[in-house]
Amino acid sequence: MEVLWLMLVALLVCLLSLHFLRQLRAQRSYPPGPLWLPVIGSIWRAGLKADTDTVSKLAKRYGDLYMLWLGHIPVVVLFGYEAVKEGLINHSDDFDERVLTPFLKLFANGEGIIFSNGHTWKQQRKFGITTMRKLGLGKKGMEHQIEEEAHQLVETFAREKGQPFDPAMPIFNSISNVICAVVFGHRFPVEDKEFIKLMGDFYGLLTFLCSVDHMVYELFPWIMKRLPGPHRKALASAEAVLSFARKEVEKHKEHHGAHEPQDFIDFYLSQMKKSENDPNSTYNEENLVHCIFDLFIAGTETSALTLQWALLLLANHPDIQEKAHREIEDVLGSSQIFHYQDRKKLPYTNAVLHEIERFRYIFLLGGPRQCSKDVNMRGFFIPKGAIIIPDLRSVLCDPTHWETPEEFNPNHFLDEDGNFVEREAFLPFGAGARVCLGEQLARIELFIFFANLLRAFTFQLPEGVKELNTDPIVRLTLAPRPYKLCAVPRNSSS
Ligand code: HEM
Ligand SMILES: *[C@@H]1O[C@H](CO)[C@@H](O)[C@H](O)[C@H]1NC(C)=O
Ligand SMILES: *[C@@H]1O[C@H](CO)[C@@H](O)[C@H](O)[C@H]1NC(C)=O
Repeated sequence: MEVLWLMLVALLVCLLSLHFLRQLRAQRSYPPGPLWLPVIGSIWRAGLKADTDTVSKLAKRYGDLYMLWLGHIPVVVLFGYEAVKEGLINHSDDFDERVLTPFLKLFANGEGIIFSNGHTWKQQRKFGITTMRKLGLGKKGMEHQIEEEAHQLVETFAREKGQPFDPAMPIFNSISNVICAVVFGHRFPVEDKEFIKLMGDFYGLLTFLCSVDHMVYELFPWIMKRLPGPHRKALASAEAVLSFARKEVEKHKEHHGAHEPQDFIDFYLSQMKKSENDPNSTYNEENLVHCIFDLFIAGTETSALTLQWALLLLANHPDIQEKAHREIEDVLGSSQIFHYQDRKKLPYTNAVLHEIERFRYIFLLGGPRQCSKDVNMRGFFIPKGAIIIPDLRSVLCDPTHWETPEEFNPNHFLDEDGNFVEREAFLPFGAGARVCLGEQLARIELFIFFANLLRAFTFQLPEGVKELNTDPIVRLTLAPRPYKLCAVPRNSSS
């Protein structure tokens, strides 16, 4: 009997060592990383509260290409300028797929631009890029609508009469209205009931996507699916936004062909018509509705958070604010409107805005990707299906590329003579095949909003407040803690 036990134990030890050895051998060619643990994987090391420190601590220990295990799924983190650029540019096609998690599959259904892959993605994306470009041109182009929206925001702020207020909602509404103009061809008055409902649903969904509840759903979809909870509400919100988009599409169809295409939906409907007889065409109403949805998802929170950080940092740095304001006054004088073109005459203001985007980058990491085939990178083996995380934040504070990475310092974008300089490690919009589709729009709107606000107001801390907190709330995005500031009008005439 005892012999039997002994043999059993010996066998067990044998099997375990074999497993361990195989693991070690496999790990020789995998990128380095914390030891494998079944089920929970090495996330235990990162700690469930994935924050920015943990990512860089692991990079310090394992290098700028390292691997974690999420259960049985390998996760490869690219850290710092060199590794991220190599991954996004040199391996652009290997890493161009999105990770379609259970929740994303449920509501995006592989359609649209952000959450699609393969042929659908290629076609929708190409169309999206061309159309954004077309919309940017012409008299009634995007820039004019953005200027209009910026003036509306200035008026909204002015109504606060210099008293402390939270700018988050007004900013979110204005930025959303820019997307409405691009997609639907018109803006909504902020008191419009439908608009308020749309924004509410949309905001609810965004909040869910960034929440721990969402992570729990992705980890245990087969249980969560059957339970009530916030994911149900999020799905209902998503459905509400989609049906709003469907209604707008219907309205556009009624007037289609009566005039030149003016907005995203117009262009899309034309494209559908053009490719009616093409069996490979993915231009259909479901993809259109999801494209609309994607433009909202990708184009609102991103720019809105950046502007929230901008005002917070302006209030915390009155000297920098004053210098930028004076530059705008000196250059533009009394001319009423200014254009995106004018940034070239405003190097300091432009540098401050770039530094805001760098110093308080709004994504915790980059957009996760999936490896579409077995890949060799820097002599390491990255298996097909691995999740790739290009940590864009680490690029924006890579100490080998920025003089004072942890400090708010507009000089990062200025040469000795005060000229604006582009920096190669300024990659907030990513790079490669999946680079931000709205980069141009984002750059234009951020600049026009920023400069208009800076021109119209002095942003001040409320009485008794020494400094606004610059520690972000860490989710998938990095948002400022809710704050109040005073927007004191510069002169009573504006
Ligand atoms: C401050 C503003 C913005 C930032 C920092 C930003 C950043 C990014 C980044 C880093 C990605 C790439 C994700 C990846 O590598 O997988 C991305 C993708 C995307 N962005 Fe932006 N974005 C901004 C504004 C916008 C705007 C205004 C729009 C359009 C209306 C937009 C539309 C998109 C779309 C559609 C994608 C998905 C592209 C694809 O999957 O092929 N973004 N954005
Ligand atoms: C990445 O691509 C660039 C340009 O094609 C090339 O110069 C560079 O050597 C490549 N890097 C690696 C590590 O392959
Ligand atoms: C459709 O796709 C197939 C296979 O990808 C290709 O052979 C064919 O030429 C395409 N047809 C059109 C009309 O583009």
